[in-house]
Amino acid sequence: MTDRVGPGAHLLVTGGAGFIGSELVRQIMARRDGTRITVLDKLTYAGSRANLAAVEGDPEQAARFTFVHGDIADPAVVDPLVADADAVLNVAAETHVDRSILDPEAFLRTGVIGVHVLLEAVRRETERARAGERPAAPRFLQVSTDEVYGDIPSGHSVETDPLAPRSPYAAAKASSELLVGAYHVTFGLDVVMTRGSNTYGPHQHPEKLIPLFTTNALAGEPLPMYGDGMQVRDWLHVSDHAAGIDFVLRHGASGEAYNVAGAKLLPNREVIGLLLEAAGRDWSLVRTVPDRPGHDRRYAMDGSKLAALGWAPHVAFEDGLPATVAWYRDHPEWVASARSGDWHSYYERQYGARLAAGRAVEQPGQAG
Ligand code: NAD
Ligand code: TYD
Repeated sequence: MTDRVGPGAHLLVTGGAGFIGSELVRQIMARRDGTRITVLDKLTYAGSRANLAAVEGDPEQAARFTFVHGDIADPAVVDPLVADADAVLNVAAETHVDRSILDPEAFLRTGVIGVHVLLEAVRRETERARAGERPAAPRFLQVSTDEVYGDIPSGHSVETDPLAPRSPYAAAKASSELLVGAYHVTFGLDVVMTRGSNTYGPHQHPEKLIPLFTTNALAGEPLPMYGDGMQVRDWLHVSDHAAGIDFVLRHGASGEAYNVAGAKLLPNREVIGLLLEAAGRDWSLVRTVPDRPGHDRRYAMDGSKLAALGWAPHVAFEDGLPATVAWYRDHPEWVASARSGDWHSYYERQYGARLAAGRAVEQPGQAG
């Protein structure tokens, strides 16, 4: 019998064709330790099979890999996959705050109904393990976010702080967490949760700040900065975020949540300045545009709970950001594919009126 989540285990990774999920799959498969992975992904606008090309194109990894196109809210798809898994890593979600403001429903469908379907399947398998019908119950890992803590004007969130989500996205993520916690307490499921901070790196859909501003800057298009640009985020490289999830899967205590904090707290203006430098552009592209409704001013997490178990992020923002800009410059086909489908109608809906009302931004250090 294999260690349930160690080498040779069979992991079900939902949302594995997205930004963080595909990095997680690439990292685990590249260890070549016999671990098998099944990805279940709906392939929404945010998911792409191309993100898994490194795995599917490598014969040794491909032999340990299965891709299933389906929805986590569909029990007919989910149940047999969970029955065959040693652990379920729920990475799938609708993930963009601005889209959750335009259309909240899909966020609830995946974040509430989808998570419930997964938990019911894990519950059944847990009961089968108790009846001796399988060697061990599957572990369930829920990938969550620092946005569940809400706006943090000062200090750093710790895991015992109350959840105070303020966007439909964050409310859906907090709802997922509450369900997962309830299934742990009520039905004894073996669960762990990760709360990651703002993540950046290759393969991120261009709707998010860093890839949007990078791809627009490289194309010489305007950069729509919300409000005064002084909102603060804690930036975490995707390789660190995926490593943190994998670490919690293997070392996290059952029923616990862990902050996966970033390496750098920065206001958006500073991120934009570094990004322009890496892209070889200047502030003339930046527009201040009407703010996002309910925009959280600051996220900041205390990462000491996970540090005490022996985990820390490795990639410095000063290194990770220019490497990310270079990746987008070197992958125009990936960018073109991500900017297809509903991209143009989304962009017009989100930015058309905003950019029309936008104003130029004075270059820092050039005042007077
Ligand atoms: P993403 O938008 O890049 O990818 C999401 C993936 O989930 C896509 O492949 C999509 O097709 C799939 N998916 C969506 N709904 C599905 C469904 N109903 N069934 C099956 N698959 C479905 O997201 P990401 O940025 O990689 O985020 C992954 C996870 O990490 C999410 O749970 C997100 O809340 C969390 N998170 C993200 C960040 C960040 O900065 N990106 C930070 C903290 C936490
Ligand atoms: P985003 O990448 O959407 O992540 P989140 O809202 O989950 O933190 O945004 C990061 C920050 O960048 C946030 O303060 C909003 C801001 N932002 C802009 O100023 N303009 C944009 O077009 C986008 C997408 C984000």
